[in-house]
Amino acid sequence: MKAVAVFPGTHEVRVIDQPQPPVVKGTEVLLRMREVGICGTDREIASFQYGDPPPGEDHLIIGHEALGEVAAVGPGVTKLRPGDLVIPSVRRPCLHAECLACRAGRQDFCVTGDFRERGIKQTHGFLTELTVEEESNLTLVPPDLAEVAVLTEPLTIAAKAVQQVKTLQQRLPWEPSRQRAVILGAGPVGLLGAMTMVAHNFETYVYSREPQSSDRADLVRSFGAGYVSGEDTAPEDLGKKLGNIDLFYEAVGNAQLAFTALEALGPNGLFIFTGIPPLGAPTKLPADQLMRNIVLENQLVFGTVNASRSAYALALRLLGQCMALFPDSVRRLITAHRSIDEAPGMLLRRTGIKEVVRLAWN
Ligand code: BGC
Repeated sequence: MKAVAVFPGTHEVRVIDQPQPPVVKGTEVLLRMREVGICGTDREIASFQYGDPPPGEDHLIIGHEALGEVAAVGPGVTKLRPGDLVIPSVRRPCLHAECLACRAGRQDFCVTGDFRERGIKQTHGFLTELTVEEESNLTLVPPDLAEVAVLTEPLTIAAKAVQQVKTLQQRLPWEPSRQRAVILGAGPVGLLGAMTMVAHNFETYVYSREPQSSDRADLVRSFGAGYVSGEDTAPEDLGKKLGNIDLFYEAVGNAQLAFTALEALGPNGLFIFTGIPPLGAPTKLPADQLMRNIVLENQLVFGTVNASRSAYALALRLLGQCMALFPDSVRRLITAHRSIDEAPGMLLRRTGIKEVVRLAWN
């Protein structure tokens, strides 16, 4: 059986031949992988800047944005049946008794850092023909969402963020009316974030470097958001151009750009970081001005990493909502389907928006 693995010791990325998984037992589920999306994290792993193989192994099977089909179930499985489509979650809890987050099943808030992530950190991923997963880590996909369900895992980032926004803005002594959100970045995470904000009735804008006349800008407008090009507007001027900004959703992984945009956040506003920038030389920032604004205007700046089981259920609901509101725009996010043999090449160069590996049996 084929899988795609990175070998950090020898700097190789290749298709490998793996033994078939053993017969499932207990609450295990055998998954026939259907589709696996490729993201920036996978590309960082494939360029050996991120990720870890399981302890004692020389390679990591990658892939964490996955859609699988149940092929067989162990005797203890209660809800899933062969033929069901499912999304596996990525993060597995640490084992420390004192980590209340992991003990509560909220490993997205793990405090020890000893969590594992399938396809990223110390556990093999889903870019393989067959794999085994616990039933409790799988979320059932409604059949009518099958064509776009591979977007669920990246959508959990926005699903969790919106949940946090609702909780955090309960601090305001009034019920906010229609708010203005600016998404930084028009990659898959940014576009899914923008769709989420539109679906939640925010007046939404995407700020990115592509010109106003680009396909990317056209896609943004197709689902009811506005587009602002970095060619015409500096990040610190976004407030002057658009009016008061209540929320920024950062999806560029560029600290200089993000903190410059933070200058444009309005009073009582939220700034959400989702990107993980590569570590480099220190960045120069107008820190005094930013700190003044944060204090005098009650601003909240926070980071969010996906995702708990509940975020997968939320993301699937959100995906259904987006498909009801602007189905063609959602479909346009998936710009290529390729075979597993093409995956190592896909990891080295980025083309389009979301490239998806489609496993042979589809
Ligand atoms: C994944 C998350 C993961 C993060 C950090 C992202 O690409 O979607 O599940 O926690 O990378 O490893």
